[in-house]
Amino acid sequence: MNALSPGVLESILAAMEAVECDPEIKTAVLTGAGSTFIAGADIKEFGKITAGQKPRGEGLHPLLSRIEDCRKPIVMAIHGNAFGGGLELAMAGHYRIATPDARLGQPEVKLGLIPGAGGTQRLPRLVGVARAVEMCALGDPIGAQKALECGLIDRLVEGDLLPGAVAFARDVAAKPFTRTRDRNEKLGTAQENEAIFDAARQTSKKKQRGLSAPLAAIDAVKTATTLPFDDGCKFERKLFMDCLFSDQFKALIHVFFGEREVGKIPNIPKDTITVPVTKAAVVGAGTMGSGIAMVLANAGIPVLLKETDPPALDRGWDTIQKNYAASVQRGRFSQDFVDQRLRLITPTLTYHGFSDADLVIEAVFEGMSIKKKVFGELDTICKSTAILASNTSSLNIDEIAQATSRPQSLIGTHFFSPANVMRLLEIVRGKLTSKDVIATCMQLSKKLGKVGVLVGNCRGFVGNRMFHPYRREAQFMVEEGAPVEVVDQALYDFGMAMGPLATGDLAGLDVGWRIRKEYRHLEKPGVRQPIAEDQLCEMGRYGQKTQAGWYRYDETRRALPDPQVGALVRKWAVESGIEQRQISTDEIVDRCILALVNEGARILEEGIALRAVDIDIIYINGYGFPAYRGGPMWYADALGLDKVYGRILQFQEQHGELWQPAPLLTQLAKEKRKFADFAQGQPVTA
Ligand code: NAI
Repeated sequence: MNALSPGVLESILAAMEAVECDPEIKTAVLTGAGSTFIAGADIKEFGKITAGQKPRGEGLHPLLSRIEDCRKPIVMAIHGNAFGGGLELAMAGHYRIATPDARLGQPEVKLGLIPGAGGTQRLPRLVGVARAVEMCALGDPIGAQKALECGLIDRLVEGDLLPGAVAFARDVAAKPFTRTRDRNEKLGTAQENEAIFDAARQTSKKKQRGLSAPLAAIDAVKTATTLPFDDGCKFERKLFMDCLFSDQFKALIHVFFGEREVGKIPNIPKDTITVPVTKAAVVGAGTMGSGIAMVLANAGIPVLLKETDPPALDRGWDTIQKNYAASVQRGRFSQDFVDQRLRLITPTLTYHGFSDADLVIEAVFEGMSIKKKVFGELDTICKSTAILASNTSSLNIDEIAQATSRPQSLIGTHFFSPANVMRLLEIVRGKLTSKDVIATCMQLSKKLGKVGVLVGNCRGFVGNRMFHPYRREAQFMVEEGAPVEVVDQALYDFGMAMGPLATGDLAGLDVGWRIRKEYRHLEKPGVRQPIAEDQLCEMGRYGQKTQAGWYRYDETRRALPDPQVGALVRKWAVESGIEQRQISTDEIVDRCILALVNEGARILEEGIALRAVDIDIIYINGYGFPAYRGGPMWYADALGLDKVYGRILQFQEQHGELWQPAPLLTQLAKEKRKFADFAQGQPVTA
């Protein structure tokens, strides 16, 4: 990383002093040891500042001025990444050269920050206002070639960087140079720039909905065009500090560290032996199986894809080809890459070749008997070290494992739809799943570009189990009189990627309807159940797939409010004696989000999730919960669990036993603690 941790700045400063003082030295090269230049600030240091500790040293500014004011040309030699503070440091140099594979960027906004050491002031001076706004507000890095074209670097170095950099430095040693801060020729006119800033704000509102840092980044770049350099830096610093002390930054940092934390599994040491996965197989080429095959192929793993009959296999193969073609069209993959990946996928109608697969993932229909049949067959065919995984979204992993003679090899790998896009992978641990199988799947999730979160075995695991009460409350509120689109809008405005009713339409309302019919005998008599969704299904309104569900859909799959649904739901509700009333936006958000939180508390208490942060990571990566709110459990902690508890008690009074507060929530609220403080193994006494 070569992060700018304490000590690094001091050392660079000392080196700069040596360069300045030694008359024999005419020029100098600054480069990074190891595989990278400087990948950014030390994020832990930010945490210290917000916790009230005085930062060590003076920060980056004085060092950057020192470099920039040096009378001898300083050449920054970049390989790997020059990100954040790393790029800010590079821009203070008088020249920048880089290897062709180097990447340069100001990714601070991804953590809810903006560049804080002159990045928003120097970057537009080097690359122009439009590119600088884009880099600072969106946070995506650019490659060395692009950096050369836009003026961020002065030369590409093929071959060894250091000798190339030294030769370049010798070349420029005696030549005059201009400090970055004095280069104003690319700063444009006020009129040109206003259009750039307006467009950037619009893009940000669309692509980074709800985030405040990108707008601050745009304002900071704007000052580069209106104020002298030093004043611009002061303004940038103020905005940086506002971001640093914002709730969004705290939440995003929690998510950043959380994604690393979820990989740590107590009782499964880091050095647990894992099985190398060099060949895989997938059973079922439907929606999920075809996506999972792509995920494996994208990671370079050859994969067999089995179906029951030629038309089903053709459908699966078609889906894969169409998905890849779309990726080529969008510029995500090259045709070459796609051809290679397609060669790694072998469609088949038999188990031929399964005997040497290291991992088999089952993705057939959701039904216990068919899953048991498939695993019984796999048990007789697969080698003894093979991992047998099920993509079930709700069924009992231990029961499925009983269909085999090796329950220790069985595990749930719950991908999310579309599997080749969604980052979340819930890894479901059965009672007997072995540690090496778990460790292998956790490791594999990284190779597949997923965030693997280990969860326990229960109906719906973590994500779907919590989603159930969340969607239940949304439906209840529609039945109590809130318009469908008003409920969805409230949660969209809260930051969810989609409203809960539109999400149902997307996933297919019939899926839950069929499950409910199967499990009706388990429902507790007298406890309220949603009524409208089943009725919509009875009418053949399954959602997007039938162009009608909670909404109507046009040919472009745009959701259109359907007055017929409103009228029908009102009629059904009145017939069932449900009182009709006005429901506020606050109530819509609280009932949906706190239903998530209350179920999350039970899941945490039962040990189905290892930590509160695991639930947060699941919700952000699998269910479109806004990362800047840190996940449902972080959100509840930030609200204060006593407030959350009080609100849930109110709902219990109004709506009955479905709102019984979870014992863990009750306890933590009384003890004035947080979900984040709770560790597994602590007694719950409430
Ligand atoms: P799907 O209905 O699209 O595909 C299932 C496929 O399995 C069908 O093409 C069928 O022909 C095939 N199949 C059935 N028996 C087979 C056998 N013995 N050998 C080979 N192929 C066989 O179902 P989908 O949606 O892909 O779901 C698969 C699994 O993934 C289910 O367990 C589901 O609960 C789970 N899941 C589904 C998600 C979704 O959004 N669709 C999300 C996450 C999990």
